[in-house]
Amino acid sequence: MNPANPIGVFDSGVGGLSVLHEIRRALPGEDLLYVADSGHAPYGDKSRQFIEARSLAITEFLVSRHAKAVVVACNTATGAAVTTLRAKFLMPIIAMEPAVKPAAENTRSGVIGVMATSRTLVSDNFVKLFARYGEDARILGQACPGLVEQVEAGDLSGDKTRLLLEGYVRPLLEQGADTIVLGCTHYPFLAPLIQDIAGPDVTVIDSAAAVARQLRRRLEVVELLADAERIGTECFWTSGVLDKAKPLVAQLWKPDVQLYELPAG
Ligand code: DGL
Repeated sequence: MNPANPIGVFDSGVGGLSVLHEIRRALPGEDLLYVADSGHAPYGDKSRQFIEARSLAITEFLVSRHAKAVVVACNTATGAAVTTLRAKFLMPIIAMEPAVKPAAENTRSGVIGVMATSRTLVSDNFVKLFARYGEDARILGQACPGLVEQVEAGDLSGDKTRLLLEGYVRPLLEQGADTIVLGCTHYPFLAPLIQDIAGPDVTVIDSAAAVARQLRRRLEVVELLADAERIGTECFWTSGVLDKAKPLVAQLWKPDVQLYELPAG
């Protein structure tokens, strides 16, 4: 493996772009490949087997593009597939973990809300987190159906998105949560609205920056960090409709990106 090889990143859709932003900040010299599986989003209501099969197919694709490491920028795919991916592929596979640990350290009220897909909330990984930090704080899991779809539609602040969010955030506040963990990579794009609904006394946190730091550490250990002096590139693929994906990626990343159709697989 060569340090000049790219890093592969994927999500059920455009949510993982919130992680990609942090990766770009932490690793300016790296070439980044991003796959949005928008043709199959949301993952949250799919079976574990389906998500695992998609994660394997996308990782194979990223490997075919010479990825030196893969970031599973999706909490739902992490819960469903990371063990299988790590067993099958030898390169570093970095995955998501909802930021329950920093939340447990931050809370003053002792109540933490975790917004995530229902599949993430019942995953083994999350159940372990719950057991580990559940003694330090009361952890309230809040499933948020419909939010991924709103972000996939590019609606980050409209009435429907606000109404959905109010229905998910208010019950957490009523139960005393002073810290809200965004346990789905789509939700950081809704953070301004969530903060507005929750008010200034509530801390809203996600784990994208921690994942980017972890990726950096892992690449350092295996001596695969690219030359930090160079300017890294990005290339995007989607399994969704290209004409719909273009304005969305432009909105959430930047205009004029290289975006291609993901080959079927
Ligand atoms: N971004 C994905 C996550 O972090 C969304 C899952 C979905 O598509 O339901 O969980």
